Amino acid sequence: MTPDFRLPASIDATLELLLTRNYVADRPLATAVFLALKLERPLFIEGEPGTGKTEIAKVLAGALGSELIRLQCYEGLDVSSASYEWNYARQMLEIRLGDVAGESREKIAANLFSEEFLIARPLLRALQPHAVPPVLLIDELDRTDEPFEAYLLEVLSDFQITIPEWKTVAAARPPIVIITSNRTREIHDAVKRRCLYHWVDYPDAAREFAIIRRKVPDASEFLSRQIVAFVQALRQLDLYKLPGLSETIEWGRALLALDALELDPQTIDNSLGVLLKYQDDIARVRGSEAARLLALIGGKADA
Ligand SMILES: Nc1ncnc2c1ncn2[C@@H]1O[C@H](COP(=O)(O)OP(=O)(O)OP(=O)(O)O)[C@@H](O)[C@H]1O
Ligand SMILES: [Mg+2]
Repeated sequence: MTPDFRLPASIDATLELLLTRNYVADRPLATAVFLALKLERPLFIEGEPGTGKTEIAKVLAGALGSELIRLQCYEGLDVSSASYEWNYARQMLEIRLGDVAGESREKIAANLFSEEFLIARPLLRALQPHAVPPVLLIDELDRTDEPFEAYLLEVLSDFQITIPEWKTVAAARPPIVIITSNRTREIHDAVKRRCLYHWVDYPDAAREFAIIRRKVPDASEFLSRQIVAFVQALRQLDLYKLPGLSETIEWGRALLALDALELDPQTIDNSLGVLLKYQDDIARVRGSEAARLLALIGGKADA
């Protein structure tokens, strides 16, 4: 381990570490991160969209000075994209060169499945030697299929990958693994069992305010409070898709771009598309409902 790589020594130190990168965590999340680092276990984070699941991996890598190795999951993701691939073109070339040089078949074959001809993809790269353990982000695991989850089991429990034609590659020191899911389907218990689990919810008003202050520092304290109160009230409605933190932050930036000093019904109506992404939700909130929510949070509904 290099001397400049230090894991946080406590939950408070973890909160502080994340804050250095403007990530405002609550105590349960900081506890989960602290334990994952301390126990060298993968952290499985599930939650609503736009609530800071992916960001935590980015922030951790930045704060710890680690490389961020990201595996974006999608349907049909296979071993050759996620883990490793043999470089067939180079292997073919090697065979031809061996033939031309008159080398025996055995001699040529012996060398073909070695590191020289291997292309490391994110999972394998995360297990290869690093001065500082990298952060391996396996993002949106619920988008893959079950065979891929099964493939992950060896990586998650033993931090190793078996390459049948070559050898088993094991990490000298486990990478920091963050797995996220939007829970569009349940992830298999076998994966979850190998991880610490944390559910991220929408933030409460105090935390959302702290995040807005950090992420949209040019918005006044007054406007920031209004933004948070309005979004929190919006989340009480029965909408198809509730706004996440990313939408709150975007809305703050949009309101600044519109030179809004405080919320008024017209400005809200004009910028609803930043907060809500479904026409039915927008139609439901636009107009009288937006004015009602604004009055509810103490804004000037008749401005
Ligand atoms: N606790 C937090 N502190 C500061 N900023 C945050 C926090 N949580 C989220 N954000 C900000 O909110 C935005 C969305 O976060 P992120 O992309 O991590 O969400 P997500 O949960 O991965 O969403 P999705 O499920 O859509 O991928 C980012 O811009 C991030 O900076
Ligand atoms: Mg994400």
